[in-house]
Amino acid sequence: MAILVTGGLGYIGSHTVVELLNNNFEVVIVDDLSNTERFILKNIEEITGKRPVFYPFDLKRRELLTQVFDAHHIEGCINFAASKAVGESQLKPIDYYENNLFSLINILQEFKERGISNFIFSSSCTVYGQADKMPIDENTPLKMPESVYGKTKQMGEEILSDFAKAYQRKVSLLRYFNPIGAHPSAKLGELPIGIPNNLVPYVMQTAAGVREKLNIWGNDYPTEDGTAVRDYIYVVDLAKAHVAALQKLMQSTSEEALIDIYNLGTGKGSSVMEVVKAFELANIVEVPYQICDRREGDITIAYANADKAERELGWKSETSLEEALKTVWEWQKYLETRNTEIKL
Ligand code: UD1
Repeated sequence: MAILVTGGLGYIGSHTVVELLNNNFEVVIVDDLSNTERFILKNIEEITGKRPVFYPFDLKRRELLTQVFDAHHIEGCINFAASKAVGESQLKPIDYYENNLFSLINILQEFKERGISNFIFSSSCTVYGQADKMPIDENTPLKMPESVYGKTKQMGEEILSDFAKAYQRKVSLLRYFNPIGAHPSAKLGELPIGIPNNLVPYVMQTAAGVREKLNIWGNDYPTEDGTAVRDYIYVVDLAKAHVAALQKLMQSTSEEALIDIYNLGTGKGSSVMEVVKAFELANIVEVPYQICDRREGDITIAYANADKAERELGWKSETSLEEALKTVWEWQKYLETRNTEIKL
C-alpha cells in the first residue's frame, strides 16, 4: 500500500516525502520537474536511506496517471503539484486553472473509480484574504482571493468537499501560512528558479550577494514597525503536519464523509523588518534593503490560530524563526557548492 505524493520533488513535497519515509510509508511520487530538479530525489534517498518510486510526468496526462494507479496499491494522496506564482497567475489565468484544477480532477477520477479515500490538499491562508480579526482560526469567513492562484486553492477546496460528501470519502484541507526554511541536512530547500517572489528566498539571495538589495514592500502599514506581518512556519514542522493529518484520516473508521480543515502556522506574527533582522542576527550576515511602495494585492497582517491542529492532530510548530532562518543560510551554502544555476 502506498501514498501518492504529487509534486513530491517540490519544496514542501520533498520535505513531506522524507517525513513519510521516516514513518515507514511507501511513497510514489509524480512530479513533472517543472519547478524542481532531479537531484532532489537523490538527496531524499541520502537523507532517508530509501528511494521512493518516481514518475516524471504532468498530471494532466490522465492515461499515465491511470497506469500509476494500475501499478501500485494507492491508499491515499497528498497533492502538492500546482503552479504557485501569484503574479504569473494573473498573467496566465487559463494555464493556472488548467494546471491546478485538471490535475486535481484527474486524481479524483481515479479515487472515485477505485474507491480510494484519504486525500490531503495543499491549501493556503490566502483563502481568508485580509481577515477582520487576528489570529485566524478555521471558522474565519473565507473571502474571494485576489489572485487566480488563490482562486485555484479555494476552488480546489470546494471540489474536494463535494467529492467527500458525494462519495463518502475522507479529505483534509491544510491551509498553510508562510512556509520557510530548509531541511537540517541542507540537502532540501526552496530552489532558486527565477527571481524569488517570496520574502525569505529573496533575503537569502540578497545576503549571498546574488541580489543587490531587498525591496521591502511598504513601511506604512498599520503595524508596529510599519511593515506587513505574516506567520512564518518552518517547512519541516509543516511536513510533519501532513503525516499527522494522513494518519488521522487513515485511522478514522467512519463510513461517512470526513472533511478536516486545519490552519498550519506558528500562531505568531512577524513583520518583514523582524524577519530581516532575525536573518542577520541568526547568520551574522548583512541584508541590504530599501523601502519601496506597497506591493499590489498584499494584505497587512495574517497569523494563525493553529489550536485545532494541536488538539486534533497532536501537532504544533516547534521551530523558532531564528532556527528556521539558520537552515536557509545553510541551504544557500549548499547550493553554492553545487553551482546550481541561479538566474539573475
Ligand atoms: C504569497 C502569496 C500567497 C501564497 C504565498 C506562498 C501574494 C499576495 N500572496 O504570500 O497567496 O500562498 O505567497 O508562499 O503574493 N516582501 C517584501 N519583499 C520581497 C518579498 C516579500 O517586502 O521581496 C513582503 C511582502 O510584501 C509580504 C511579506 O514580505 O508582506 C511576505 O511575502 P511573501 O513571502 O511573498 O508571502 P505572502 O505575500 O504572504
